[in-house]
Amino acid sequence: MKKQVTVSAPGKLMLLGEHAVVYNRPCIVTAVGQRLSATLEIISENRLELDAKDVKVTGYIKQLVELGQGNIPKGANFVEMAVKNFNEKFKINSGIRIRTQSESSSLFGLGSSSASTVCTIKGLAVLFDIKLSNKDIFKLAYKTVLDVQGKGSGFDVVAAIYGGTLYFVTGGKVIEPIEIEELPLIVGYSGIKADTVTLIKEVAEKASRYPDLIDSIYTHIGKMVELSKIAFLAKTWPVVGELMNFDQGMLESLGVGSAKLSAMIYAARDAGAWGAKLSGAGIGDCMIALTPINKISDVEQAITRSGGQVIKVRTNVEGVRIEK
Ligand code: PMV
Repeated sequence: MKKQVTVSAPGKLMLLGEHAVVYNRPCIVTAVGQRLSATLEIISENRLELDAKDVKVTGYIKQLVELGQGNIPKGANFVEMAVKNFNEKFKINSGIRIRTQSESSSLFGLGSSSASTVCTIKGLAVLFDIKLSNKDIFKLAYKTVLDVQGKGSGFDVVAAIYGGTLYFVTGGKVIEPIEIEELPLIVGYSGIKADTVTLIKEVAEKASRYPDLIDSIYTHIGKMVELSKIAFLAKTWPVVGELMNFDQGMLESLGVGSAKLSAMIYAARDAGAWGAKLSGAGIGDCMIALTPINKISDVEQAITRSGGQVIKVRTNVEGVRIEK
């Protein structure tokens, strides 16, 4: 049995299908570096010790018997629930120290919570010599996401586990790699923090008032995802871009667009992007623009001029891995 291990996992960017994927439709997600890494160590005290400086958690201590109870700081809840769920399933009953470190700011919404959840589960499995398949890790990680935020599709943890670019249906009903070498994508940060849980609730509230309308929007988004999967595989980027624009229209109908995101999206399209849309829950966080190589600098400048911050992310990167 090892005493210490370091694992790392990528973040995620939703390409198409957000919101609809919470309701049994497919989405396409790509894994992104900046990675998050976690060092896990067995300790003799019967407690969890956590340092996650990027999310302002230092010197956090919780007794094993109290995991998941009481006031949990926002930056600690995914790791704590992951340890709790792992412990309940495999009865490791051992103290554990975890330190996480992220290559990027958690502000961008690029999936540091999902990456830390996956790193915790993978790290514990390595430490205690428990063989887990990717699907096993997914089940525990998805349960953790649902425990913390109540609702969600699991698209973020699947990206952290499998890496690459994936076609994914709610709760892991389908997990299919889309083999592509590169993705000509520009990412712009809006400067506004998106609140995923609140936005899922707001869309659900709208669906309770307009059930047929919202359901047909989800079905349309699902069709756009299906068509874009074919276009991704054929690398027909103009088609992917056009479908991204369609999808953005649907997301506007759901009420998760914002003036800031729209300014950046239209600026990117006007500067020559094949397509541009918000990525994730909406209102804030990031927008993405699929862009021909010869237009990259024009699109980047346009996003900056419209008040966005271009962030360099590597897409389609490797999933969770052991570092040392
Ligand atoms: O806010 P993000 O980037 O975590 O994206 C949320 C995407 C949703 O479809 C709204 C939720 C989900 O779990 O799929």
